[in-house]
Amino acid sequence: LIFIYILVHLHWSCTADICQEDDDCKNQDVYDKTVTAIPEKLKDGADEIFFVNSQIPVIPKGVLSKNPQIKKIEFLGTSTHSVEVGAFEGLPDITIIEISITNVTSLPVGVFKDLNNLLKLILKNNKIHSLENGLFDDLKKLEELHLHMNEISTIEEGTFDNLEKLLTLHLAKNNLSSVSTSLFSNLKSLNIFRLYENQLTALPDGIFDNLPDLEEIALQQLQPDLFVETLKITELSLSHNNLTHLPTGVFSPLKKLKKLDLSSNQFSIISADFFEGLEKLTDLNLQNNSIESLKQEDFKKLKSLSTLKLGNNELQNLPGDVFDSLPKLSKLYLNENPWKCDCNLLPFYEWMKNNKGKIKSKPPEVCELPKDLLNQLIISLTEEQLICLTTSPTTTPLLTIGVKHDDPKSILCASVKARTSDLSNKVVYTVNVKNVPNYF
Ligand SMILES: *[C@@H]1O[C@H](CO)[C@@H](O)[C@H](O)[C@H]1NC(C)=O
Ligand SMILES: *[C@@H]1O[C@H](CO)[C@@H](O)[C@H](O)[C@H]1NC(C)=O
Ligand SMILES: *[C@@H]1O[C@H](CO)[C@@H](O)[C@H](O)[C@H]1NC(C)=O
Ligand SMILES: *[C@@H]1O[C@H](CO)[C@@H](O)[C@H](O)[C@H]1NC(C)=O
Repeated sequence: LIFIYILVHLHWSCTADICQEDDDCKNQDVYDKTVTAIPEKLKDGADEIFFVNSQIPVIPKGVLSKNPQIKKIEFLGTSTHSVEVGAFEGLPDITIIEISITNVTSLPVGVFKDLNNLLKLILKNNKIHSLENGLFDDLKKLEELHLHMNEISTIEEGTFDNLEKLLTLHLAKNNLSSVSTSLFSNLKSLNIFRLYENQLTALPDGIFDNLPDLEEIALQQLQPDLFVETLKITELSLSHNNLTHLPTGVFSPLKKLKKLDLSSNQFSIISADFFEGLEKLTDLNLQNNSIESLKQEDFKKLKSLSTLKLGNNELQNLPGDVFDSLPKLSKLYLNENPWKCDCNLLPFYEWMKNNKGKIKSKPPEVCELPKDLLNQLIISLTEEQLICLTTSPTTTPLLTIGVKHDDPKSILCASVKARTSDLSNKVVYTVNVKNVPNYF
């Protein structure tokens, strides 16, 4: 899945913004692999320029300064290995720069100087190994900085200090083995902070303390003491993190937490220990995990929970009392689970019937098994349809069929007939086969 995601993503980066031949491409100037130099002048009316797989080893100083109208420039998969100081000078209106999938290993301080209006800087999937203090100093309006999939192992103190407007910092898939708290402490507007797939073994104390607007923190694993009480966040997303479990009480310092998003991870079970201290939590999103079973105990700490999303998991069945510890529950989502509509679902089916108003899923819950109930709405089934075609011993009522005790064949026939008759009553008859040893 991860691999597919990356491929799709690369493909997207290479083509999504670039218009196709039949579109109106007037404002775009696109160069392909046959191009060996950056043209001095863009075509008339163009303010976006793209180089895709072009042979441009160096991006020289001031190379596009005769085109001050440029708003966006992208180098994708170009043969670039270095970018000179002043490469983007003379472009006062530029808001987006992307240099991705190249062999660039470092960027000297001054490359991005004077880019006061830059909003988005994408430098992903290169070979950058370090970031020097001063590199981003002029980017006072920058909102997104994408540095993932490089080989960054060192970031100098102060490197991000001027990025007070930064909303997204993506540093995943690098070679960071440690980071300091002060490195990120000026990122006052940061919303999304991604650090997964680095070589971090621990995060320093207080790393999130000065980041009041954080909504999504994407890390590889969570340490038990990751969060501190000074963190006043009310919403936390740990979505798309590949998490399989959580340390006991990891969220308990987050006394104000109201919404917790754990969707698109790899939880197959959850536990009450994950949710210790979350008495104020109202929304819990566990969508798109691999949860196979749940019990009442799991939710007992969540006294304020009103919205629970469990769609797109591996649930086939639930106990009838599973949500009994959630007095405030009013919005429940259970769709896209492989519900098995047999006699074992009866207790939960009853609960669903009695709590119709709480179930908000669209599309609603349908059966995946047995085959003849595939895609049937659970809530519209009748009790009589929830049957178990089991051969396991159900002893009442016992049907006695007259058979010749010395003729095994006649017993087998009687047995088969009895088992298949009258199944709508959910009764599975077994035939008394004593006196016929070694036959079944
Ligand atoms: C990067 O360098 C490697 C090794 O020299 C080369 O094979 C590859 O094509 C280069 N990448 C690009 C995008 O030019
Ligand atoms: C960076 O990390 C990756 C993945 O862990 C590893 O394969 C690679 O050798 C590392 N590179 C450097 C320069 O340390
Ligand atoms: C995701 O988690 C699985 C199992 O926990 C692990 O094998 C896999 O390497 C992880 N993938 C990434 C990209 O972290
Ligand atoms: C579901 O989670 C997987 C990873 O666990 C992710 O690749 C996929 O995009 C997620 N699907 C949705 C709809 O978010």
